[in-house]
Amino acid sequence: MADESQRGEGLPEDVMTDDCMTTYTHLYSPDLLKDNVAFITGGGSGIGFRIAEVFMRHGCDVVIASRNLERLTEAADKLTKATGRRCLALAVDVRQPDTINAAVDQTLQELGRIDILINNAAGNFLCPASSLSFNAFKTVLEIDTMGTYNTSKVVYDKWLKDHGGAIVNISATLGYRGQALQVHAGSAKAANDAMTKHLAVEWGPNGVRVNTVAPGPISGTEGYRRLGGPHAENAGMFSSIPLQRAGNKTEMAHAVLFLSSRAASYVTGSILVADGGAWLTSANDVHRLLGLWSSEMKRDKK
Ligand code: HXC
Ligand code: NAP
Repeated sequence: MADESQRGEGLPEDVMTDDCMTTYTHLYSPDLLKDNVAFITGGGSGIGFRIAEVFMRHGCDVVIASRNLERLTEAADKLTKATGRRCLALAVDVRQPDTINAAVDQTLQELGRIDILINNAAGNFLCPASSLSFNAFKTVLEIDTMGTYNTSKVVYDKWLKDHGGAIVNISATLGYRGQALQVHAGSAKAANDAMTKHLAVEWGPNGVRVNTVAPGPISGTEGYRRLGGPHAENAGMFSSIPLQRAGNKTEMAHAVLFLSSRAASYVTGSILVADGGAWLTSANDVHRLLGLWSSEMKRDKK
């Protein structure tokens, strides 16, 4: 097994919290997205925050849109201070088309265009199907799948249809092998992967590319914490991943940057799995995950 120094390329910088990086090394041209505007759902935290930062470090202005306006405003301040680009914080619930309509109108008024849409907002938790309520399943489908469709449709109708651009959806590999305790999110993301292809076909003639990035376990994120990432890491389980580790948020931002930019000008309808090979080899052990879930339930009840 290779040790850190033998693994070839160095990893891109990242920080574990929702803060900007203290140093950043450009791998792409710093003006790759110069004067573009990106609309990023869920851009106030986790992977979405880092996508916003990396886009801004490549000359892009961004909108970060989600439910918690206080957290978004704080994030927008940090992003503007670190990069010198504009960042608008807008309250949106992707389940409610009216809120998306209002945010997209405000974006077009204040920033004048939308070149890139990142559908990153999602909700998830570990839960066996037998304990999942009807409303819990519906809630995750509404955020992940309806939310992606709602936002794509509003941005397309109001701007992309006439000007072209790029959409990148943030998916997951959960459905590829029927990940235990993940029927809700796995089903939602599988629907989004199909949506990527349908919209790529229908909107390609209007100059709109539609692609997906499917991350694996990404450290320093809510998803990682909720799905037992720290537990798996401490138990040495990442040694079964071909690349032997979790990914970082900047690595995800770089994959999204590629698909959003003119570097991918002939790429549409594709799903880029950025998971270190994890889905091919990781355990899908229903008993281990049930144990983790029930110990979390007991802890929460105390
Ligand atoms: C079982 C749960 C639950 C849990 C909520 N519910 N949490 N069921 N286990 N842990 C149930 C509730 O009881 C309710 O059903 C229904 O779900 C809706 O819950 P609400 O709290 O009313 O919904 P809402 O306020 O809209 O919040 C949505 C949420 C919440 C998804 C439940 O956790 C959220 O806002 N999450 C956003 C942040 C997030 O999840 N980040 C991680 C993304 S990571 P009843 O029947 O009681 O009414 C990710 C990783 C993918 O997607 C892959 C990783 C490898
Ligand atoms: P996160 O920080 O919790 O990101 C989810 C974001 O979605 C939050 O900013 C949240 O903001 C927003 N959101 C949730 N419900 C919303 C709604 N109804 N309307 C608008 N915004 C909403 O988690 P993350 O781990 O970085 O996940 C980001 C993306 O990566 C998700 O699509 C996830 O499925 C995917 N992913 C993550 C991992 C991982 O290891 N972390 C692995 C595979 C895939 P508000 O609370 O302010 O609304």
